[in-house]
Amino acid sequence: MTAKELRKKYLDFFAGKGHAIIPSAPLVPENDPTTLFTGSGMQPMIPYLMGEKHPLGTRIADSQKSFRSGDIEEIGDNRHTTLFEMLGNWSLGDYFKREQIPWMFEFLTKEVGLDPKNIYVTVFRGSEALNIDRDEEAVEIWKEEFRKAGIKAEAVDFSERDGMGNGRIFYYDEKKNWWSRAGVPENMPIGEPGGPDSEMFWDFGAELGLHEKSKWENEPCHVNCDCGRFMEIGNNVFMEYLKTENGFELLKQKNVDFGGGLERILAASDNNPDIFLTDIFKSSKEEIEKLSGKKYEDNPESFRVILDHIRAATFLIGDGVLPSNKDQGYFVRRLIRRAVRFAHKLDIKNNFCSDIAEKYIELFGDEYVNLVDFKNNILSELSKEEDRFRKTLERGLKEFDKTFKMAEAVSNESLEEGVMKSPDYLFGEAIFDLVTTYGFPKELIDEEARERGIEIPNASWEQFDELFKKHQELSRTAAEGKFKGGLADHSEKTTALHTVAHLMLAGLRKVLGSHVHQKGSNITSERVRFDFSHPDKMTDDQKKAVEEYVNEAIQANAPVVMEELTLDEAKERGAEGAFEHKYGEKVKVYTIEGYSKEICGGPHVANTGDIKGTFKIKKEESSSSGVRRIKAVVE
Ligand code: ALA
Repeated sequence: MTAKELRKKYLDFFAGKGHAIIPSAPLVPENDPTTLFTGSGMQPMIPYLMGEKHPLGTRIADSQKSFRSGDIEEIGDNRHTTLFEMLGNWSLGDYFKREQIPWMFEFLTKEVGLDPKNIYVTVFRGSEALNIDRDEEAVEIWKEEFRKAGIKAEAVDFSERDGMGNGRIFYYDEKKNWWSRAGVPENMPIGEPGGPDSEMFWDFGAELGLHEKSKWENEPCHVNCDCGRFMEIGNNVFMEYLKTENGFELLKQKNVDFGGGLERILAASDNNPDIFLTDIFKSSKEEIEKLSGKKYEDNPESFRVILDHIRAATFLIGDGVLPSNKDQGYFVRRLIRRAVRFAHKLDIKNNFCSDIAEKYIELFGDEYVNLVDFKNNILSELSKEEDRFRKTLERGLKEFDKTFKMAEAVSNESLEEGVMKSPDYLFGEAIFDLVTTYGFPKELIDEEARERGIEIPNASWEQFDELFKKHQELSRTAAEGKFKGGLADHSEKTTALHTVAHLMLAGLRKVLGSHVHQKGSNITSERVRFDFSHPDKMTDDQKKAVEEYVNEAIQANAPVVMEELTLDEAKERGAEGAFEHKYGEKVKVYTIEGYSKEICGGPHVANTGDIKGTFKIKKEESSSSGVRRIKAVVE
């Protein structure tokens, strides 16, 4: 089956069950400042799941392009992609489990033709803490479906020790069988909808030996094991809960949110665990083979990175995201540059991205007409970014040559006098620079050095590793601040609490010491949750001192001033924040004179007096090793 056929089958099937078919929403959410990308079909549907009337009724289906930026560096295996198409159907307060489960079973086994013998499912185990029952209703419905297909389906509580036993249906806890935009229940902000889910898995077969060949071979295999034998092909979310201050309450209506990866269902229908072997990637793969003279089978990782990244970049540019240094554009830039680096490994030395993009536009143009409308733009943006990257590479290599000359000139005498860094160290620094600023892969650096007759000493690589580790720690903190935690919304109260978080960090650094840095935050209109580095429990006096610091700043009615500075300037002025290396980008620095100076994207109140109320630390507890967590409010 081709992707086109499968997409059509799915939409026709649900149209036949009274669903209105809607087009895919863009990859950049239109009215949602909390996320950079549309990462699931559910995101654009949230208002309707909460009870707003959808103009097309209570039954909706679509195929939604989705982009998950989290795993760019992890692409390369047989089943992950950054961009994917999510087949989705929604009941907006209409049907529920009784209809959804039999329909999905019918679709997969009759329409797609999957053998029910190789289908396994999971359901929610229930939780006392959440006060939500085990999903026995879903289990009964699944049992009935399997029974009709001649399979006796046993439901068992999943256990790490026993693996699958004779089970067909497995109870897992909320880590696996709960869905919301924010993930598990504890990460959901107040006001967020979510619910237990029931996932379906395809078994590629024990005889492939995927589990035996994996790093989990000493543990029993199960459907959620990462060895590759099983692949999740769909998720039925029974979205009926709302997170409130007092735990979970029922939403106004019971909803269904089904999402299934088109690429994965295709792979299951081919019974081949490698999604890059589906027709989606066929013509692009052949193009890479032609350009490189190499075979996919001999270089699967490099091919997959290129195939995934160019497809994602094509779709993103098609939705108006141009390569740049910030926000969404930064991901497009990374995708293209990473693809170019992996192409280099395949000996593709000239611009090639637009050749691959053309193949995708041909394939997807009927469904995603904007790809055709913006074709020229997409192709020229890809080529321009490749040109820029190649220039950057050249500049980086010049720097490298300079370092080489300098290292040669360093005499033992100057070393002894302590005026120069050792050549080993200079190379370590130069490698670090090439990797972080210019995005060079290490193998490429080694190659270039050899061409210049240099053997980079081990000590330099060690030096590099050390610098790089430090850099990664900083980047991670910055990325978490930017993309994961952060603000639940931009309401007045949330914005005020965001400014409070800055004052609190400054207060913590003053009271506890300058080892304190932010490790994460999550801010809603009700409270600030704030993680910071500090080894010990805070004493009552320390908490009081921090409260006083923040309240004094609120009382002072001080202006909050924003300036755009380069990272170096920000550092020089003593701004607090993670100094992420990003192609010399400018950063915003928010200053509350006398109280706080911090790198941050905003937004903030104009004046500390706008915070209105008294700051109070409600809770101080351990978050992880060396990290404390504060929950605080303004009352
Ligand atoms: N929204 C659900 C998911 O992304 C279906 O898994």
